[in-house]
Amino acid sequence: MKYSIALLKGDGIGPEIVDSAVEVLKKVGAKYGHEFEFTPYLIGGCAIDATGEPLPEETVKGCLASDSVLLGAVGGPKWDNLPGGKRPEKALLGIRSALGLFTNLRPAKLYPALKNASPLRADIVAGGFELMIVRELTGGIYFGERGRREGKYGPEAFDTEAYSRMEIERIGRVAFETAMKRNRKLVSIDKANVLETSRLWREIMHEMSKEYSEVEYSDMLVDNAAMQLVRNPGQFDVIVTSNMFGDILSDEASQITGSIGMLASASLGSTKRGMYEPIHGSAPDIAGQNKANPIATVLSAAMMLRYSFDLKEEADCIEKAVDAVLEKGFRTADLLGTSGGNALSCTEMTEKILENI
Ligand code: IPM
Ligand code: MG
Repeated sequence: MKYSIALLKGDGIGPEIVDSAVEVLKKVGAKYGHEFEFTPYLIGGCAIDATGEPLPEETVKGCLASDSVLLGAVGGPKWDNLPGGKRPEKALLGIRSALGLFTNLRPAKLYPALKNASPLRADIVAGGFELMIVRELTGGIYFGERGRREGKYGPEAFDTEAYSRMEIERIGRVAFETAMKRNRKLVSIDKANVLETSRLWREIMHEMSKEYSEVEYSDMLVDNAAMQLVRNPGQFDVIVTSNMFGDILSDEASQITGSIGMLASASLGSTKRGMYEPIHGSAPDIAGQNKANPIATVLSAAMMLRYSFDLKEEADCIEKAVDAVLEKGFRTADLLGTSGGNALSCTEMTEKILENI
């Protein structure tokens, strides 16, 4: 089969990690007889430098015309002082919205080989954990009305959160279906003791839970959830939550796996086209130094094969190669933890993964 993939390398370490995932996809393609055609487009800071816009029209068109999208990361100190609407991050929200990607799947699992890299105490991670965060991605406070105005105490700023029944139901549906394919346990995370959007969210999730009687459903307040994730991450299977809470909790979930450099994500909508990206940022401090961990992006490419192209065996092959490399003790700098040893560069880690495909 032939598949067209739009590459949005972005800024900072983005180009290095995307190149790494492309190598892995090429090798898998050669092994299983698929042809992947890659077309790069600009997004984020590099797009601002080249065109003045963080999300050029051509990028949106290119992504819409492709079978799937692989993204690195956007942003960096160079563009930090631009107004909100011109920032690289705006492009990320823009492309998610333009492609209708309302679901963001962020799996977080503890690799047995990386127990030492987790900041959690050995007894807490002894049983391991493997959870899936289902984050709503195109609504809530990141997309609500915002601005500056004159307030009671002088100038003030505001952001608003709004969620419609439609938006909550469609992400709820994905979450319940995801739970059905896993261990059938779903926790919905909100702030229903304070926020009206959370109260509507909770009401609808409760309604839906009646349809999914095989799923063990519960709700949890977000502050408690932040605590439970470090106290006992093994209690979670699938988590569903709003855009902002999902953004925050997924960084926390990634860190307890050992490194944010390990976490992949899939952004999906109502078509097969998805956008796949590591959950970490552009890491400007190590950009261009060949130090980045490419695993999150490589695993994102595996998610693309699984979710957009239905290539299960091929996706398994990539995931197994990553497992094997970690089991053999190979580490990038972020994964060394307390065990010490030598760190591989981004290209060396990529080579190791390729050798195992
Ligand atoms: C993420 C990032 C983005 C988000 C930023 C860069 C806009 O933090 O993908 O988690 O908040 O979604
Ligand atoms: Mg984030």
